[in-house]
Amino acid sequence: MKAAAVYPDTKSLGVVADFPEPKIESPTGVKLRVLNVGVCGTDREIASFLYGTPPAGSEYLVIGHECLGEVVEAGPEAGAVKPGDLVIPMVRRPCDHPDCIACRAGRQDFCYTGDYRERGIMKMHGFMTELVVDDVRYMNPVPAGIREVAVLVEPLTIAEKALIQVKQIQGRLPWRKHSALVLGAGPVGLLGAMTLALDGFEVTVYSKDREPNASADIVKAIGGKYISALDRSIDQMAAEMGAIDLVYEATGSSQLAFDVLPVLGPNGVFVLTGVPGKHGPQPFDKDDVMRKMVLRNQCLFGTVNAGKDAFEHAVTDLTGFYAKWPEAVRGLITGRFSIDNFAQPIQNQKGIKNIIEIGK
Ligand code: BGC
Ligand code: ZN
Repeated sequence: MKAAAVYPDTKSLGVVADFPEPKIESPTGVKLRVLNVGVCGTDREIASFLYGTPPAGSEYLVIGHECLGEVVEAGPEAGAVKPGDLVIPMVRRPCDHPDCIACRAGRQDFCYTGDYRERGIMKMHGFMTELVVDDVRYMNPVPAGIREVAVLVEPLTIAEKALIQVKQIQGRLPWRKHSALVLGAGPVGLLGAMTLALDGFEVTVYSKDREPNASADIVKAIGGKYISALDRSIDQMAAEMGAIDLVYEATGSSQLAFDVLPVLGPNGVFVLTGVPGKHGPQPFDKDDVMRKMVLRNQCLFGTVNAGKDAFEHAVTDLTGFYAKWPEAVRGLITGRFSIDNFAQPIQNQKGIKNIIEIGK
């Protein structure tokens, strides 16, 4: 069967024509027919050979980690999951260290050792192929009603894991504060904006492009405000917003993130989700940052990957977004490609979210 792969040794991309068909080998195994696979910045990094590692002994890595599949076969102990069900597989698999309490507790998204594996990214083949087999514990059922957009669940889990943590931190305040700034209007930023809007935050999205543009239209459709960085400086944007209670960073630009940190409001929370490239040391005013953070009780944290709880929230929230803002949610998916053309949206990013359509 076909599989979309990157070859780090020869720095090339290609479709493997005879990728072996997987078999269920454990009673809790399930086999999926892959329907859609989303492409993201991580895939672009992998395809630029800056990130990603093939499985031991393989000259290539099959990519794809944002997957929607349909169950075609289930092992005798796969529980309630049965053929015909739609599922989203999780990306990360636990490390083997007996003393990694996170991985031993099924929370490999908080792995201590760094020896986790990730499908389509780190030492394990991914989902950009026709059939995949995996353990039922990594499967997250999705209702058939959101099939058209369900490939957005995995990127949405980034925002959901962030929001779970934001709620825990904001729980230190005996009141609720609502003003959120999202940096970046790509898929992670827009899905973050939707998550926050549905949760009752007043959302402003700050991004490069001037209006009119498709991302700005989506922000407005969900009741948010869009501000172009070409029209307003960070200080002007902050003055317009008033006290900022939450910043959700989704650009991967450390420059932008640390330029915005000084305008975070009292008791504010700043979440980093982007993974920047390495651009060497940059000067920044450490005294000012530390002073403000202490005197304003602020919290800055990074977040990666997601646990079962975030996947469950993502399925519930995507269903909610789709009911409330169907056009905006559909509008996130701007390009559809066949597996033969998988390299196109990776090498030449256009639009918001591009997906590879494999099964129907
Ligand atoms: C994926 C995560 C993964 C991270 C780092 C992201 O694109 O959504 O599941 O942990 O990349 O590899
Ligand atoms: Zn991704």
